[in-house]
Amino acid sequence: MSAPIRHFLQVRDLSREEMHHLFERTRWIKDKFKRYERFWPLEDRTLVMIFEKQSTRTRLSFEAGMHQLGGAAIFLNTRDSQLGRGEPVEDAAQVISRMCDIVMIRTFEQEIVERFARNSRVPVINGLTNEYHPCQILADIYTYIEQRGEIRGKTVAWIGDSNNVCNTWLQAAEVLDFNVHVSTPPGYEVEPERANLHGTGHYREFTDPMEAARGAHLVTTDVWTSMGFEAENEARKRDFEDWQVDADMMRNAAKDAVFMHCLPAHRGEEVAAEVIDGPASVVWEEAENRLHTQKALMEFLLRGRVKP
Ligand code: CP
Ligand code: NVA
Repeated sequence: MSAPIRHFLQVRDLSREEMHHLFERTRWIKDKFKRYERFWPLEDRTLVMIFEKQSTRTRLSFEAGMHQLGGAAIFLNTRDSQLGRGEPVEDAAQVISRMCDIVMIRTFEQEIVERFARNSRVPVINGLTNEYHPCQILADIYTYIEQRGEIRGKTVAWIGDSNNVCNTWLQAAEVLDFNVHVSTPPGYEVEPERANLHGTGHYREFTDPMEAARGAHLVTTDVWTSMGFEAENEARKRDFEDWQVDADMMRNAAKDAVFMHCLPAHRGEEVAAEVIDGPASVVWEEAENRLHTQKALMEFLLRGRVKP
C-alpha cells in the first residue's frame, strides 16, 4: 500500500522533528544552489499554483523553486480559470490533481484549502489563507536559525494585527517550543480557536507594544490591513497608529535581536524605515529563504525524507 498523501495546510501538519529535518535539508539544498550545482530530484514533476490573491514572493519562490528542482510550474488565477466562475472547489481539486504532482493554493478561507486537499490525489500546500501563512513561517524560522541559532526557548515579539502570519507564529511556537509576546490594539486580539492553538502556554498578550518587545530575540510585524480586509483600511490606520516597530522599540528588545517582516511592508505604518532598512533587519535574507525552504518542503512532500 502506498503512503498517505501529506499536505501542508498549517504548521501543525509537520512534527517538530520533521521541521528540523526540513531545516537541515534547506541548508543542504541552499548550499548546493549557491555552488551552481544542478539538483533535479523533481524532474518531470509538475506544480500547479492557484492564486486567488496577489503575490510576488510566493509565486516567484514556488515557480523558480520548482524549475530549479527540475520540474515545471503552472500558474492559475481566479480571473482566467473556471475557479472564478463558481466551479466547486471539490471538482477543481479532482481535475487539477489528476494532471499534476503537487498543488499550491493562495486563497481566502482556510476551509477552501482543506476542501481542496480532501479531494486531491496529490499534496496540497497552503500559500496563504485568511487564517495562516505556513510557508512564510518556515522561512522565518529557518532564517532565525541561520542568523542566530536554535529558536527553542527564545522569545518572538509580534507587534500589530493578529492576522494569518501571527496565527502561524503562534502555532509554530507550540510545535517548536518558543515563546511569542503579542501586542495588538484593543479589538484585534488573538483568537486562539482561529489560530488552532492547543493552549500550551507559549504566548502572552501585552497591551503595550513596548512591553511585548522587551528582551525579545526576534521582533516582527506585518501590514495593518491584510488582503481581503481592504474595506477596514481607514479604521485600521487609526487603530494601529501606536503599533509601529520603531528604533525605540528595537532598543527595548535583546541586544542582538533581529527584525523580520514577511513583506510587502509599509514604511511609516507598521514599521519605521530606520528599522526595516537598519542593521537588525534580516528581511531580504528572510524573503530569499522562502525559495530554499519551499524547495525542501516540495521535496519532502513528494519524496519523503531524503538523506543527503
Ligand atoms: N510574503 C509573501 O507571501 O509575499 P507575497 O504576497 O508577495 O507572496
Ligand atoms: N498578512 C498579509 C500577508 C501578505 C504576505 C496578508 O494576508 O495580506
